[in-house]
Amino acid sequence: MTGAADTVRYEGFAVSSHPANPRVQVVTLDKATLEHFEELTSQYGVQSLEYKPFLRFAIADALDKCCEYQLGRFLLATMNDRDTGAFLMEGDADVRRSLVDSDEQRDVFVKLSTAVSHLIGLPNFDAMYGKYYARFTVFNQDSSDSYLRQAHRRMELHNDGTYVNERTDFVLMMKMAEENMEQGDSLLLHVDDWQELERFYHHPMAKQAIHWSAPPSKNIGYVVEHPVFFEEDRNGKPHMLFIDQFAQPANMQQGLYLYEMGKSLEGDENCSNIRVNVGSMLVIQNHCWLHGRDKFVAHPGLKRELLRQRGRFTY
Ligand SMILES: [Fe+2]
Repeated sequence: MTGAADTVRYEGFAVSSHPANPRVQVVTLDKATLEHFEELTSQYGVQSLEYKPFLRFAIADALDKCCEYQLGRFLLATMNDRDTGAFLMEGDADVRRSLVDSDEQRDVFVKLSTAVSHLIGLPNFDAMYGKYYARFTVFNQDSSDSYLRQAHRRMELHNDGTYVNERTDFVLMMKMAEENMEQGDSLLLHVDDWQELERFYHHPMAKQAIHWSAPPSKNIGYVVEHPVFFEEDRNGKPHMLFIDQFAQPANMQQGLYLYEMGKSLEGDENCSNIRVNVGSMLVIQNHCWLHGRDKFVAHPGLKRELLRQRGRFTY
C-alpha cells in the first residue's frame, strides 16, 4: 500500500475520504480489476447466483483475488470501525467513461454488488422482491404506500431493518440506471455526529420498547418491538433502529419522543449529501449511520433504478 497524502493505493484499488464527509471511504476500483473480475465471473449468469447461494461467495472471492486479497480486508476493517463504517465504491474514470446503458452492464452491477455484500457478510432475503437483493425503479409519478418510491419529497433519515426480526447490520445501495435526474442525492448522518444525540440517548424513553410495523408492500405481516437505542457496540456506544413511517407509538409519551427525534434529525446540520452515480454503490453500517434521500427535481421522464442488499455481518 502506497500513496499520496489523501489517496492510498492498494492492489487493484485506491482509497480516499469523501469530500462531503471524511468518514465515508471512497473506494475506486481500477479498470483492470473490473475487467479481470468480469473475466473470472463471465461463466456465471445472474440467475445462477440467485439459485445457488454458494456461487455468491465464489464471485466475492474472485473480486478479492483480483485485488490480491486486500479489498476484502479493507472493506471489513472499514465496516468494523465505528468512526468510518461506510464506503462509496465506484470504478475509476476509465470505467465510468466506458459504461453503457444495457442489461448486460446491469448484470455486471448485480455481480459486483453481490461480491461486495459477501465480502462483508451475508444478505438477508428481501421480502419485497423475493430474492437476496431487490431492484426497484423510481418514476416521476408513484402510487405506492411508503416514501421509498416517491420522487418529489425527501425521504427522511432512518435506519433499515426497524420492522423485521432479523439483524440488518449493513445496507448496500447501488445505482443501476438513471434518466433525467437532478438532485436526489443520498443523505447520511453518523449517529455520533447527531448534535442532539445526548438529549435523546439519555432520555427516559431511549430504552423503552416501541412497536414497529410495515405497510403491505413490504410483505412482512408481523409487528416487532424494540427501543430506538436497542443495543450498544463493544465500546458502549449506541446502535440505533429508527424510522419515522413505521413506528407505532402506543401513547402520547412515545409519540412525542419519536416526533421530536424526527424533527431533530431532519434539522441536523451534520447531514451530508452523497452523490451515487450509475455503477457506484454506497455501503453503510446500518446501526451507526442514518440514511435518507433528497428529493428530485420533477421531470416527466424521470427514472432511477436502484439495487439494494441488506444483511448481517458474519465475522
Ligand atoms: Fe432505507
